Amino acid sequence: MILYACSKNPGKLREFALATREFAPQVTIDCLPGLEGIPAPEENGSTFEENASLKALYYSRFTPELVFADDSGLEVDALGGAPGIYSARYAGPDAIDTANNELLLEHLQDEKNRKARFLCVIALAKADRILETFRGAVEGHLLTARVGSNGFGYDPLFYYPPLGRTFAELSPEKKFSVSHRGKALRKLFEALSRDAT
Ligand code: IMP
Repeated sequence: MILYACSKNPGKLREFALATREFAPQVTIDCLPGLEGIPAPEENGSTFEENASLKALYYSRFTPELVFADDSGLEVDALGGAPGIYSARYAGPDAIDTANNELLLEHLQDEKNRKARFLCVIALAKADRILETFRGAVEGHLLTARVGSNGFGYDPLFYYPPLGRTFAELSPEKKFSVSHRGKALRKLFEALSRDAT
């Protein structure tokens, strides 16, 4: 079964490839053909669900196959849930990961409550119709400096107590086994195998 991913984020694409290898070898996840040349839709939803769904619907018009889009981000309690759906562009429209990390550290200076969670919503669509959405979350807390060099985004700041490491210190397999994206993708794979039987 072929499933087209509507993302240009190399960090996410690596995790999608790992996911199929580990959990759903019968599924092939590929980047939507021609994605580079398709103008991205405006992510103007107010929730992860809305943004994932609008992306999946939009891209489903370019192929008759199943497509999925993921919208994800970091919610920080002390910041009232920010950066949330704005995680990718926290420090500006084309912000790189280190700029986002630095701004987050600046906003959390002297803050004692460092509780945060990663969230991921995956929307599955076909031919201009949303079939289902899947949500995953993982709780952790934010360090005062970056640790580790794996992963992407806010991984070096996100300390995961059950493993005593930041996400950037975990192997891709280990991160995937506990992450928000791993949880959402496993729910997607379960739904696909349920529907195939
Ligand atoms: P999206 O492309 O709008 O879903 O952007 C998600 C943004 O949230 C990413 O660019 C990262 O900044 C952050 N993010 C989402 N998932 C992760 C993760 O697994 N690790 C680190 N940062 C993440």
